[in-house]
Amino acid sequence: MKWIGSLLCGMAVATAGYAQSYDPVLLKKTNALLAKMTLEEKIGQLNQYSGKDVTGPVNAQNKTQKEDIRNGLVGSMLNVKGVKDTREIQELALQSRLKIPLLFSLDVIHGYKTVFPIPLAETASWDTELMEQSAHIAAKEAAASGIHWTFAPMVDIAKDPRWGRVMEGAGEDTYLGVLAAKARVKGFQGAKLGGTDAVMACAKHFAAYGAAIAGRDYNAVDMSLHQLWQDYLPPFKAAVDAGAATFMNSFNTLNGIPATGNKYLQRDILKGQWKFSGFVVSDWGSIGEMVNHGFANNDTIAALKAITAGSDMDMESKAYLAGLASLVKNGKVNIALVDDAVRRILYKKFELGLFDDPFRFCNEAREQQVMNDASHVAIALKAAERSIVLLKNNQVLPLSSGTKTIAVIGPLAQSRRDMAGSWTVNPVDTNLIVTLYQGLKNNAAGATVLTANGCVVNGGDKNGFEEALSVAAKADVVVMAIGETWDMSGEAKSRSDIRMPGLQQQLLAAVKATGKPLVAVVMAGRPLVMDTVVAQADAVVYAWWLGNEAGNAIANVLLGKYNPSGKLPMTFPRNVGQIPVTYKQQNTGRPVTNENNVVYRSAYIDVTNRPAFAFGYGLSYTTFSYSGLQVSKPAFSGNDSVVVSFTLTNTGKYAGEEVAQLYIRDKVSDIVRPVKELTGFKKLMLQPGAQQTIRFTINKEKLAYYNSDLKKITEAGDFEVMIGGSSDNTPLKTTIRFQ
Ligand code: NOJ
Repeated sequence: MKWIGSLLCGMAVATAGYAQSYDPVLLKKTNALLAKMTLEEKIGQLNQYSGKDVTGPVNAQNKTQKEDIRNGLVGSMLNVKGVKDTREIQELALQSRLKIPLLFSLDVIHGYKTVFPIPLAETASWDTELMEQSAHIAAKEAAASGIHWTFAPMVDIAKDPRWGRVMEGAGEDTYLGVLAAKARVKGFQGAKLGGTDAVMACAKHFAAYGAAIAGRDYNAVDMSLHQLWQDYLPPFKAAVDAGAATFMNSFNTLNGIPATGNKYLQRDILKGQWKFSGFVVSDWGSIGEMVNHGFANNDTIAALKAITAGSDMDMESKAYLAGLASLVKNGKVNIALVDDAVRRILYKKFELGLFDDPFRFCNEAREQQVMNDASHVAIALKAAERSIVLLKNNQVLPLSSGTKTIAVIGPLAQSRRDMAGSWTVNPVDTNLIVTLYQGLKNNAAGATVLTANGCVVNGGDKNGFEEALSVAAKADVVVMAIGETWDMSGEAKSRSDIRMPGLQQQLLAAVKATGKPLVAVVMAGRPLVMDTVVAQADAVVYAWWLGNEAGNAIANVLLGKYNPSGKLPMTFPRNVGQIPVTYKQQNTGRPVTNENNVVYRSAYIDVTNRPAFAFGYGLSYTTFSYSGLQVSKPAFSGNDSVVVSFTLTNTGKYAGEEVAQLYIRDKVSDIVRPVKELTGFKKLMLQPGAQQTIRFTINKEKLAYYNSDLKKITEAGDFEVMIGGSSDNTPLKTTIRFQ
């Protein structure tokens, strides 16, 4: 238990100005309160219950919840929201001996009342300012509704689209994931914690949950520490640096140790090396689940392992409440551990200003006013437009202004709830959701818009085909609205077959046979396998789940009022057998050099190694050319840097935005590095014919990686620099040397 001393000492010495620091006045107040608490009251602060809504398995209904709150045995509630309800429950906490206010927490993942695109979609915008803005609006609305704390952002790197939770994160790439993590933490927490427009962020799920084996939710994770540090931890570190107030651990084991009971992750890395000053909440029931893992004999041993490992708050396992007191009394748990956890939680309550006014987030007038702020809708539309990725376009888009009749066909044409996607704050106000059908009617002035469902998303009934085909026959162009229902991706929504569900592909093929120009708009929470859809449609628009403004945003793209600018944050596989597939692979000893001869090569004999759509890919209605690559010097050393510059030209007919991407390959290294890694990008708007010089600065930090001792180093040698509009299309190439 040598580390206890250094942990407490680490808290005291943290200095102001560092993203993770303590205000001495608040720390003094925290310690004074801590000194008055009984052991039971301390353990109460570590206990979190769920209210009416349920976001996990409930083992036994807790009938004593209200009584426990009055007795000071609860530190936080999740799933209680709204000024009326949070006020009512907070009043109970104020009847406890020490009147310590509760923290109200909720999964505010992509909006509160205003539903924004799912995080994976929004990451396709590569627009970090926008990510910060939408998170801030979500925070404002949540905070106006009594919420102090969101369980977001999810910063898990995820390379397997079978995993339903890919929708909640920033995709597969660490560099992009780091920027998204920072932006979202800053957005949720605003200028300062304690503002009534801010909520505490929670970086989750610590750690490596996104690598659950075979994409099956809650599954084990087994990975090298090198990969953990190189690919999976950086977004978490970025969240700490951005000042994230809380972390959530995760359901998975990591190399055999459950994350919840993992001292290396929580004590050594997070609270030790990274000096994280906030607190760690367990995931739902994850302390108790260590018994199922076979890591603890019973809940009391699970509690011992969790508190020892650094899990501060127990979400819904009730294991701390049941077991911690006896563990302290019989000497198995040092009280300093409990004090440390309680101190971290109380400090945040002080920081939020809850001791000055436990009801400062409970103002009905503010709730009304913030929820009806029309500016939020405008940002939701902007976010939705910028999240859309154009995957294919045989000149059919944008629809010509002469289009007289548009048919919107498919089970998602008139769907509202599905547009909101998974992980919304329930109940979703579907009246606020614009369907694709409605969006086209709103925006296609002068055109007639017809619609028919044809079939359901996931079923076997063909009865609607006939009507759909007769509607298609009347149109100049058919827009097919197909994909997943809102509950087909998300937590516990892993799928082994990620092709287009149900009869949607068949419906599309039947419509194709009419000979009408065909645009597929695919709405889903994950990358889908869409080989036949892509082959048959003249254009494919990937629209994910875009939130309240989905219909207007997609219509604006189809009609050319918004020129699509999204780029994929995750690779789209050709088939499930290719998974996991990412651009960031190693070269192997036998790389494919000729696709026509893969014998004794690292390849499949039945499918190419190339994915359907690569990371970073996305079309525009205009075209861009990359030229004139220059390097300020061929070699550099120490703290010097190299500037690579090039010209980006809009060579097409439309004004449009491009995301110019910089990839680097470390040619020879002690640990084999990937064939390319994203290390920079710039998104910019160019008018037709216009050009701009773009510069990327490369310093030793950009070339660094974790070596086998898990130290970040930059090795001397050659680095290949690749620049272009997608990870599989980098026309500009050069080599620089670090010496
Ligand atoms: C379980 C999920 O894994 C987590 O992300 C979520 O925040 C909690 N349930 C609370 O709903």
